[in-house]
Amino acid sequence: MSTQENSKTLWHGRFSAGPADELMAYTASLPFDRRLWLDDINCSRAHVKGLAHVAILTGNERDSILQALDTVENEMSSGAFVFAPSDEDIHTAVERRVTEICGATGAKLHTGRSRNDQSVTGLRLWCKREVPLVVQRVVALQETLLTRAREAGTGDDAVYLPGYTHVQRAQPVLLAHHLLAHGWALGRDIDRLRDALRRADVSPLGAGALAGSSLPLDPSFTAKELGFARPFENSLDAVSDRDFVVEILFGLSMIAIHLSRIGEEWVLWTSDEFGFAVLDDGYATGSSMLPQKKNADIAELARGKAGRVIGDLVGLLTTLKGLPLAYNRDLQEDKEPLFDAMDQVSLALSALNGMIETARFVPERMKAAADAPTMAATDLAEFLVRAGMPFRDAHGIVGALVRRSLNGEGSLVDLVTAEPTLGADAAALIAPGVGVRMRTTPGGAGPQPVTEQLKKFSAALASWKNA
Ligand code: ARG
Repeated sequence: MSTQENSKTLWHGRFSAGPADELMAYTASLPFDRRLWLDDINCSRAHVKGLAHVAILTGNERDSILQALDTVENEMSSGAFVFAPSDEDIHTAVERRVTEICGATGAKLHTGRSRNDQSVTGLRLWCKREVPLVVQRVVALQETLLTRAREAGTGDDAVYLPGYTHVQRAQPVLLAHHLLAHGWALGRDIDRLRDALRRADVSPLGAGALAGSSLPLDPSFTAKELGFARPFENSLDAVSDRDFVVEILFGLSMIAIHLSRIGEEWVLWTSDEFGFAVLDDGYATGSSMLPQKKNADIAELARGKAGRVIGDLVGLLTTLKGLPLAYNRDLQEDKEPLFDAMDQVSLALSALNGMIETARFVPERMKAAADAPTMAATDLAEFLVRAGMPFRDAHGIVGALVRRSLNGEGSLVDLVTAEPTLGADAAALIAPGVGVRMRTTPGGAGPQPVTEQLKKFSAALASWKNA
């Protein structure tokens, strides 16, 4: 137990003894919510202006607190701020320091306010500031994918590789098409985060502990002051709503899953078995024991850390489940998962971006895999369809030729040439590079639609970037 004087809390009035060390160690959120310091200071600035606006503070009192808040900002940003053992959280720390600086006037800062509305206001401000930074990193990865897709090309020398289903070679696709597939998925991630921000854009300030105040507070004034789209409609909801954190965590989880899927592909592509890409030395790791190894650890961690980010989402959902209105201390558990997911997704986006930007593709290996004769099987069936044959029958004929070829009865080219319904014209479809050019469906994998897609993606990217 500790009753030392310097651990006086904000709520000590009702208590005859100070808090136990174990209580502070267990309940304090300062170690992680100090990241909200700037948002908390801005929240206090708006609150103080709001109090003066309704004449609860005089102009002089407002200015003296605002000045103290400037000093706290300087101390925080320069690292000179000294935290006290009684600072349970960032809100307590800022208020304590303001009161040290401007005495009795500083003690008016918390008028009509609770940490319940204050902490969630700060968190919403933080999200509005930080989520756009993650979006920028997503855009940077999309730009890299677009650059690499343009390099891979759609012309006569366009790079193509097998497209897979069930990790079995299926049909050839342009490399540009494959890369842009991930780009579109990331575009949906941006839309999702922006949509979540729309609902996060509500000011809870003025809700107080749970019910508002008997003082003439004006939540619309402080909402406007803080740049929120609107104030809360219901004070109980305002202090207990963490939907916005869950939605952002879901958006981040979805990005993590997309990055994980990209990561898995690059683990395969950089293996000797595939050999489709070679990592730049700066973006690969070695083995402490096996001298020959060059590993794709960034790609593996993008895959591995997705589990952790999903854990952040599920952890918070579990915390929220069954919480009665309004504020409960459980809600303090909103911040760590959010910060962790933001950090991990930001790091993954930058690392994967650098890895993909600097890697060398190996077109010969991709083409060799995509030019396997069996990759033309669907084109052969569609050749028969063009001649009027029902697709099921065509599928059967080509399937039988593939089986005979695999049984050693001859090359697929020879068997196709000898087949009366197919012949030499059909056999020409098996030649290297022919199949990929046959895919003409809009949105499909061939040069013609991919040329269109590159234009569309580039236009969409401009809107993702500038919205
Ligand atoms: N650190 C707390 C949080 O992040 C602040 C709210 C504490 N409120 C209370 N009434 N104990 O949620």
